[in-house]
Amino acid sequence: MNLTPKQIVAHLDTYIVGQREAKKAVAIAIRNRWRRQQLPEEMRKEITPKNIVMMGPTGVGKTEIARRLATLIRAPFLKVEATKYTEVGYHGRDVESIIRDLTEFSVNLVKGEHLEAVQPRAEEMAEERLLDVLLPKPSSTPYRPVTVGGSDPSESEASGEDDDSFERTREKLRKKLQAGDLDERMIELDLPESGTQFLDIFSSSGIEQMGIDLKSMLGQRAPGRTKTRKLKVSEARSLLRQQEAEKLLDQEKMHREAIERVEDSGLVFIDEIDKIAFQGSKSGPDISREGVQRDLLPIVEGSNVVTRYGVVDTSHILFVAAGAFHTAAVSDLIPELQGRFPIRVELEPLGADEFRRILSEPNNALTKQYHALLGAEGVTIDFTDDGIDEIASIAQECNEKTQDIGARRLMTVMEKMLEEAAFEGADGPRSIRIDREYVRGRLADIVQDEDLARYVL
Ligand SMILES: Nc1ncnc2c1ncn2[C@@H]1O[C@H](COP(=O)(O)OP(=O)(O)OP(=O)(O)O)[C@@H](O)[C@H]1O
Ligand SMILES: [Mg+2]
Repeated sequence: MNLTPKQIVAHLDTYIVGQREAKKAVAIAIRNRWRRQQLPEEMRKEITPKNIVMMGPTGVGKTEIARRLATLIRAPFLKVEATKYTEVGYHGRDVESIIRDLTEFSVNLVKGEHLEAVQPRAEEMAEERLLDVLLPKPSSTPYRPVTVGGSDPSESEASGEDDDSFERTREKLRKKLQAGDLDERMIELDLPESGTQFLDIFSSSGIEQMGIDLKSMLGQRAPGRTKTRKLKVSEARSLLRQQEAEKLLDQEKMHREAIERVEDSGLVFIDEIDKIAFQGSKSGPDISREGVQRDLLPIVEGSNVVTRYGVVDTSHILFVAAGAFHTAAVSDLIPELQGRFPIRVELEPLGADEFRRILSEPNNALTKQYHALLGAEGVTIDFTDDGIDEIASIAQECNEKTQDIGARRLMTVMEKMLEEAAFEGADGPRSIRIDREYVRGRLADIVQDEDLARYVL
């Protein structure tokens, strides 16, 4: 993916209003990784990513920027909360699990791409297997199609045992299959028994931290157990396609690629970094917070982490840390960590102007969401400009009077304002115009009463 910083910012602009500084910083960081890839090996090794700290109040787009960025660049992405981790030796997750989780994500990402690539081939193979079931190969005993449900004249026609007519019948069936004519027919299929669900629960709960590949260990213990199931051809087709696709995958190659992907383009977003900052003034047993910072260091600086897919070198993973930094400052982090996050960007608090734009501009703007949601029932809601102005200024007023929760306030305000319309749905008016008067009518009482606002909005 080689988007220029401007293209990246332009993409982010379609979802996030304002916050130009932060968008620019992440766009540059992403582009620098691509630039690095173009360099000769020698130089490439020297260039480490410039990690970023985003500072700004709650609900102004910190996480949203990281989230949109990750989907845009299709890179392995993980968002973690710094407060969830504990120093090695304490109860809780150790920070190395960040890298293991990131690798897991990467494996899924790569697997998804590989699966897509083998789809056409898998589709063909699934078709052959379906035909084998619908019309078993003639053996010494005369064959009979093992199908449940209505018999098909084209099959009994072919009960002559010579190869020619068998092939012809098979091709006829293939045509029907491709046309979807047989989709509803029931067949019997031997399918491997799935016993892996509970293992997934295990491995995500941290047993995997011991570096043991539990899933494949236990998975191997029950080889080839199958169960015969009756199902529709259409269902069987997609199951068989999945099976065949899995068979076509080269696990080792996939894992290697996944690790490369993590090493070259992994992105870790560490939220609430300020919560693990150590404030010298406040005495208390804050050792473990500082411990987490110390544990983070080697990972951010670059070290090798063992995962079940292989060893991951973390030197070039990009870290973006974010925090409100209300009480703590970046300088409260341990110095080594500060040095590892050389880029600081501040996100602006949002006011009525931004709210107005957030409500109407982004592709996923709330007004568009509600319009679509009620539209599903045949109810049209239209927002007038002065209606949107009013919502924006009510949201701002609430943030000022109660607590500033940024753009999240828009969600509570919108929800409350449209409660009645959503409740009535198709039983109410078919078309609703949301102008200033409507908004005031629904919300004025609540906004007047500060105590009420505290609970409702
Ligand atoms: N600048 C913005 N433009 C558009 N939408 C925004 C903006 N800021 C916030 N939002 C909306 O508000 C929601 C919350 O924002 P986000 O999760 O980015 O907050 P945050 O800055 O990470 O806050 P916190 O410090 O609480 O984690 C997002 O889902 C997004 O829809
Ligand atoms: Mg956040």
